[in-house]
Amino acid sequence: MTRPGLIRIGALVSGSGSNLQAIIDAVESGRVNGELVVVISSNSKAYALERSRNHGIPTEVVLYEDCSDRSSFSRTIAETLKRYRVDLACLAGFTRILDPLFFELFHGDVMNIHPALLPAFGGKGMYGRRVHEAVIQSGARFSGATVHFVTEECDVGPIIIQDVVPVDDDDSPDTLAAKVLQVEHAIYPKAVELYCAGVLEVDGMRVRRRG
Ligand code: GAR
Repeated sequence: MTRPGLIRIGALVSGSGSNLQAIIDAVESGRVNGELVVVISSNSKAYALERSRNHGIPTEVVLYEDCSDRSSFSRTIAETLKRYRVDLACLAGFTRILDPLFFELFHGDVMNIHPALLPAFGGKGMYGRRVHEAVIQSGARFSGATVHFVTEECDVGPIIIQDVVPVDDDDSPDTLAAKVLQVEHAIYPKAVELYCAGVLEVDGMRVRRRG
């Protein structure tokens, strides 16, 4: 059942959905002034779909392969979000890049979580394990996670929250990913909570907290 006054959140997923789970848990705990009204997956086998069903959240599958091109895929995603009257779309391990048409059609806000400290180690092709491999290879002593607003350009929107983890000498991409994921599960729900509380103010590339 939907409740008036709450921010309508939609999530876009492609995989395991552990970040989605963190958002679900935060919403269910009552700390978020919002509700998850739909989870849209680009992968029919994503475990994120099972997590959603376990919590009674409506799910939709939009396969890239069923669309003629990126534009038509982006249109279908935007139309699905609009059908559920979504205010805030949260990309949570969504592996597809949305094209500019998406932003013409969907007028809500869009957030993403990235498993590194943007603006470093982002952009097209920087996804999941590849990000951690690049961080280790670069010799960086710290990595972390970033929640940011999504704009037409990949991984460069205004940053809402970041947190850091040390890169240890014996870290592998997998151990680094595990450390970063813990941080992700803390900062993504926090960003959603702040958004739904209406305290985020975007000033160019800077996101300020009011109050
Ligand atoms: C997360 O680490 C997320 O930051 C990353 O995919 C993983 C999804 O895990 N996203 C990106 O790399 C986006 N460029 P999850 O499905 O368990 O939330």
